[in-house]
Amino acid sequence: MAFTYFFRDFQTINLAVSHLIPTIQGRREIKIWDAGCAHGPEPYTLAIMLSENMGTFAFKNVRIDASDIDTSNLFRDTIEKGVYPLVELKRIPQPIFEKYFKKNGKEDYYIIDYSIRNRVKYYRHDLLTLKPIGYDYSFILCKNVLLHFQAEERIKVLKMFHQSLTPGGLLAMEHTQDLPKEVNHLFTRIANGAQIYKRR
Ligand SMILES: C[S@@+](CC[C@H](N)C(=O)[O-])C[C@H]1O[C@@H](n2cnc3c(N)ncnc32)[C@H](O)[C@@H]1O
Repeated sequence: MAFTYFFRDFQTINLAVSHLIPTIQGRREIKIWDAGCAHGPEPYTLAIMLSENMGTFAFKNVRIDASDIDTSNLFRDTIEKGVYPLVELKRIPQPIFEKYFKKNGKEDYYIIDYSIRNRVKYYRHDLLTLKPIGYDYSFILCKNVLLHFQAEERIKVLKMFHQSLTPGGLLAMEHTQDLPKEVNHLFTRIANGAQIYKRR
């Protein structure tokens, strides 16, 4: 299982959400791509934070395309079911946990609320094909994935992200992932203390 957890790097996601919301207000379709989503804690964290900050009505226009190279059906099954063991949910703030998770059966497993599950769709996808899963994304979240690639591959993947973002769309990566100089002209950094960029 890939290393990931709910509310991982809350600071970056929270900051990205605060920059994103003013740019998507009033839109009827808001497309987001979580690239390298593992078995779901990250896209579900993002969905919960958007739900909390956008309001129920506007949140219904959000679609998070969550993709990973995972060749088993494990990530797909987990994300589609939205069921996680309690041990994986310990870092979720208590009021959020109580609001969005319900016990699922007798064991210590919990299911995410349908309003959140319904906004996340899983796709099996290899970023190194350099073919995006879609276009017109308002936000691409790609954390702790590019570090596994060669420098040249990283540049090509970032160019692909640039192509699949809508003009002015946002890209967020982990704080240790600097933008290579070869793609500097494609993005403008918009936040201090986080790797959050706007498509030029
Ligand atoms: C450390 S996890 C990061 C999960 C989550 N983004 C986070 O930051 O918590 C890295 C993920 O990248 C995925 N990955 C690795 N190579 C990939 C590729 N070529 N295309 C798509 N996903 C890939 C792995 O399967 C794994 O789930």
